[in-house]
Amino acid sequence: MAKKIASARITTSSSQLLQELNNSLPFDKLLYREDIQGSLAHSQMLATQGIISQEDYESIKNGLNEILGEIESGEFSLDRDDEDIHMAIEGYLTQKIGDAGKRLHTARSRNDQVATDFRLYVQKNTKLIASLLLKNIQTFLDIAKANTSTLLPGMTHLQHAQPINFGYHMMAYVSMFKRDYERFMSSFERNNYSPLGCAALAGTPHPIDRELTAKSLGFDAPTINCLDSVSDRDFALEILFNISTMMMHISRLSEELILWSSSEFRFITLSDRHATGSSIMPQKKNPDIPELLRGKSGRVYGNLISLLTVMKSLPLAYNKDMQEDKEGVFDSVRTATLSLMVLDEMMSEMRINEDKMLQACMIGHLSATDLADYLVKKAGIAFRDAYHITGNVVNLAETKGVDISELSLDELQSIDDRIQEEVLDILDNRASMNARCSFGGTSSSSVETQIKIIEEWIKNLK
Ligand code: ARG
Repeated sequence: MAKKIASARITTSSSQLLQELNNSLPFDKLLYREDIQGSLAHSQMLATQGIISQEDYESIKNGLNEILGEIESGEFSLDRDDEDIHMAIEGYLTQKIGDAGKRLHTARSRNDQVATDFRLYVQKNTKLIASLLLKNIQTFLDIAKANTSTLLPGMTHLQHAQPINFGYHMMAYVSMFKRDYERFMSSFERNNYSPLGCAALAGTPHPIDRELTAKSLGFDAPTINCLDSVSDRDFALEILFNISTMMMHISRLSEELILWSSSEFRFITLSDRHATGSSIMPQKKNPDIPELLRGKSGRVYGNLISLLTVMKSLPLAYNKDMQEDKEGVFDSVRTATLSLMVLDEMMSEMRINEDKMLQACMIGHLSATDLADYLVKKAGIAFRDAYHITGNVVNLAETKGVDISELSLDELQSIDDRIQEEVLDILDNRASMNARCSFGGTSSSSVETQIKIIEEWIKNLK
């Protein structure tokens, strides 16, 4: 039976097509907990303020708690033709408890109700994502700790550049995830204000206490302008942006994991649990998990751009366009939480092939910069001249088919006799890595400092 859209004015039952387009219950049923939570806080406040009787509040409370149980047990199915989650729950409440149920919507509109429910959902999931980020940070820290002297070629332009260690590389991602964590938490604080009681757009003549509902829902305070509050979706845009940036970081890491697990690199081996085979090529082991993580960044960017586009040009205050705010956020939140859980598991179980990384360090004359720096420091040669001398040394190594660290002293001196024996130590890749001991640099001791700083940061988190 086609149900009528909520209205006192529209008398005929609405078109089936209108309902298809209009009804949000198929997706906003995900907000049932938040909707009940908001209604419990609202009705308690109405009773405290003497706007409804204590008796009505008690039956509303019992009715809502019963509905919560029935939804959770599956006894009350939300696969129905109500317009949205708010109408479905209010309608069922009234069916259950009679007239008291009809008093619940006093001093409230669906505009502030949906803004409150959705904000509760976003705040809850912001905290969840932040905690999953912290778990990943811990995992990456453990990998870093075990690999502060595992040499690998550091790259620019995907070309071998200078020797670094694997711990350093992991700490680069820890730095990104720390910023992501802080971004989520600052959004949480900025948006932790309650729109409940703003009613349709202009507030209400009833003597409500918005401070009370704000506090009981875990918000810091009520929002200060109702017209803004019912039309603000910045909190949703922020979680979409924060997820997009985080997924961009995960996508960059995934790209590296995909490269590193190829036959050309073999720096890592993903556990068999996180790789798949090919349906035709029996020898294949494919890095599907990092590929999916890389691919999923696309869809979360899409969700961000969708909502930005929905919101632009909307006049104040609520417009039905805004019902389009939810599906993208639900999708991005699910994508983000699943991705973080998978990433953590995959990183914990991945094997690091130290020998392959070390071998790769012998390609590309990684310590060439050290030779140039040596010529400047020890022989007082101008850097640009030292740079050219080093270029000639690299050419010699190339013609001999060796790495510059493998050239003999005689060979080095055939290019420039100011090169002394001590250079042989300096050209060693491990020495080169450990020479970069400036703050934030790659030396093992610098990386240990970085690890300590992050551990201290974690310890001081509230
Ligand atoms: N389902 C609606 C939404 O998600 C609830 C708000 C409806 N408000 C209104 N004035 N029609 O946005």
